[in-house]
Amino acid sequence: MGLHMPLPVFLFMTLLIQLTTQQKVKYARFVGTKDAIFPSSALKKVTAQSPVSCTLQCSQTKGCRSWNFYQTRTIENCELNSHKALSNDLLVSHGGVYYQDIKEEMDCNDLYGAGVSTIKITGFGIKEVYCDNGWLVEMRRYDSTADFNRNWSQYKFGFGDPRQQFWMGNEALHAITKQGDYSLLINMLSCNGNYYYAKWNLFKVKSELMKYAVDNALTIESYNTTNTDGLLQIRGGNFGTFDNTDAYSPVSNKTCAEQNGGGWWFKSCTYFHLTGYYPDCNHTDTDDRLDTKSKMKSKAITGNNCDIGCLLQAATMKIRRNN
Ligand SMILES: *[C@@H]1O[C@H](CO)[C@@H](O)[C@H](O)[C@H]1NC(C)=O
Ligand SMILES: *[C@@H]1O[C@H](CO)[C@@H](O)[C@H](O)[C@H]1NC(C)=O
Ligand SMILES: *[C@@H]1O[C@H](CO)[C@@H](O)[C@H](O)[C@H]1NC(C)=O
Ligand SMILES: *[C@@H]1O[C@H](CO)[C@@H](O)[C@H](O)[C@H]1NC(C)=O
Repeated sequence: MGLHMPLPVFLFMTLLIQLTTQQKVKYARFVGTKDAIFPSSALKKVTAQSPVSCTLQCSQTKGCRSWNFYQTRTIENCELNSHKALSNDLLVSHGGVYYQDIKEEMDCNDLYGAGVSTIKITGFGIKEVYCDNGWLVEMRRYDSTADFNRNWSQYKFGFGDPRQQFWMGNEALHAITKQGDYSLLINMLSCNGNYYYAKWNLFKVKSELMKYAVDNALTIESYNTTNTDGLLQIRGGNFGTFDNTDAYSPVSNKTCAEQNGGGWWFKSCTYFHLTGYYPDCNHTDTDDRLDTKSKMKSKAITGNNCDIGCLLQAATMKIRRNN
């Protein structure tokens, strides 16, 4: 007679074989090695009777993306990890075998913990992105060492290090936000030392031909900034950089990107601008309005020393698919 194995067990054995094959392909350096583990990102340790059981426990654990199985241990021999090893991560020899989920995620929705993960974006391909508890970080900025005054092609493909300060890239942003309905969350730290957030719904970035414009569907969902000034200015705005922009300031007779620095969705020369010149928060002279205007800031935050919008010392932009 045929197989008497229950179907789920059979499926997981199939999965295991595929995983082992993929491991050999992806981590060619470890071909034949039976004792390589991925040391970081342990979510939890459980006890498993076999590699198949360890695989099953990973598949049943929210956020588990890879696992290490130790044949030589009797308890806690199955380590469930929140991340898969990236192509440049090292697997180390440590008496265990490394396996990973073959499913390619399309964004960070099902990825827990924080760190760099690989996702497979529809119509784009594989991309290493920074996931933060289900959110995909699109940009992060927190000091003056990162240069955000970049050209069109740098904003198109992205720049910086996803673990530190960076812009993910408009081409990827377009492709990801095309996959479904996404929310946008921006966290800000003002020069006054206060944290704020603003959250939008239906954040969609059009194609390069459409100048990566933010779709008009964008709405504000919630916020704890002082007001909403400027928070909807990005709606319908074309992306612009100093070498490719159509937004122009009649006051300075310069394009917004020339005047304010950075790449952004300039509809007018906005007072909400996270890629403007990095401010010196200790510089208390706010008389030079044009100068303040060109800095990283948000008009939705008012208070002491905020003049025409509060200067910011840090910001992150994150997106997440609505389920
Ligand atoms: C954009 O900037 C990069 C880095 O400075 C440079 O290599 C590239 O040639 C620039 N692209 C254009 C179109 O100017
Ligand atoms: C805004 O909300 C964030 C996150 O909930 C919180 O950390 C921050 O303190 C709040 N800020 C203000 C000014 O209420
Ligand atoms: C604006 O800039 C253009 C090109 O740089 C120049 O030709 C024009 O005279 C300027 N206009 C004013 C009002 O300064
Ligand atoms: C600003 O002032 C704070 C507190 O006095 C200090 O810690 C910080 O280093 C100063 N920053 C700069 C850029 O001067």
